[in-house]
Amino acid sequence: MNYEGFKAQVLTLTGINLSAYKENQMKRRIDALIKKNLCNGYDEYLAKLRADKKSLEDFVAYLTINVTEFFRNPSQWEVLEKQIFPLLLEKKRTIKIWSAACSTGDEPYSIAMTLSKLLPLSQIQILATDIDKEVLAKAQEGFYMSRNLTNLPKSFQDKYMVPVEGGYKITDELKRCITFKQHNLLKDPYPTGMDLIVCRNVLIYFTEEAKKDIYTRFNKALVDQGILFVGSTEQIIMCQEFGFEPNKIFFYQKTKTV
Ligand SMILES: C[S@@+](CC[C@H](N)C(=O)[O-])C[C@H]1O[C@@H](n2cnc3c(N)ncnc32)[C@H](O)[C@@H]1O
Repeated sequence: MNYEGFKAQVLTLTGINLSAYKENQMKRRIDALIKKNLCNGYDEYLAKLRADKKSLEDFVAYLTINVTEFFRNPSQWEVLEKQIFPLLLEKKRTIKIWSAACSTGDEPYSIAMTLSKLLPLSQIQILATDIDKEVLAKAQEGFYMSRNLTNLPKSFQDKYMVPVEGGYKITDELKRCITFKQHNLLKDPYPTGMDLIVCRNVLIYFTEEAKKDIYTRFNKALVDQGILFVGSTEQIIMCQEFGFEPNKIFFYQKTKTV
C-alpha cells in the first residue's frame, strides 16, 4: 500500500483526513512512527492499529500533536487582557468564546483565568473543542504537572489551582466556565455567534486549501467585529479575503461577512 491508500484507511478508521495536513511533514512523521513500532510498511502498521486499541489511540495522539501549556507566548495574553477583552466588552456585558483545538485544556483555562479579572466566573462561558478525545478527557479532569505551569502567574495558581500529589488540579469553580466537546475543524459544523475565537498552533499543520476553508468558516462563526486570535507562526496573509482586518499582531477583527 502507498501513502494515498494509507490516508484513505486512516480516514475510515479515525475520521481524520490526512490530505488536509501538510504532506511532507505528516508523511515524515508517520514513516518515523512506523519504524519506531517495528512495522514493515503501511499494511503491517494498519493491521496493528486495527488489532490494538491502545496503538490506535497512541497513533491519533501522535498525529494530532498535543503540545500546549498555560499562557503560551505570555506577551500575547497581555494584549488579550489589556486590549482585546476591553474592546469586546465595550458594548456587551458578557462574551461568547470558542477555544478551538484546545488540546489538554491549558488554553481555555488560561482564557477563563484572564477574563476573570474583568468578569465574575458566573458570567464566563467558553466552548473548548479538539478532535482528540483523549486530550479532552485530560482537559476535563484538569490535572497538570508543574512543567505546564511555567508561564502561569502565581496569583492565578493560588486562586484556581489546588496542589495534589504530583501536580495541581483546576478548581471546580473555574472548570464550570468551560464546556469541552469533540470537534473536527475539517468536517464538523461550526458554532455561531462567537465574539472571540482562539485557535492557535494547529493551522500550521494544514494545507493552504484547508486553512482558507477554515478562515472562511471562522468568519461565519464570529459576530460582526468579533476577534480571531491565532498562534505566533500563523499570521494570516491576505486576511481581507476572509473578511478580517489585522487588529493587534496575532489578532484579527471581522469587518464583513464572507
Ligand atoms: C499543538 S496543539 C495546540 C494547543 C493549543 N491551541 C495551544 O496553542 O497551545 C494542536 C491541537 O490541535 C488538535 N487538532 C489537530 N487536528 C485537528 C482538527 N482537524 N480539528 C480539531 N483539532 C485538531 C490536536 O488534537 C491538538 O490538541
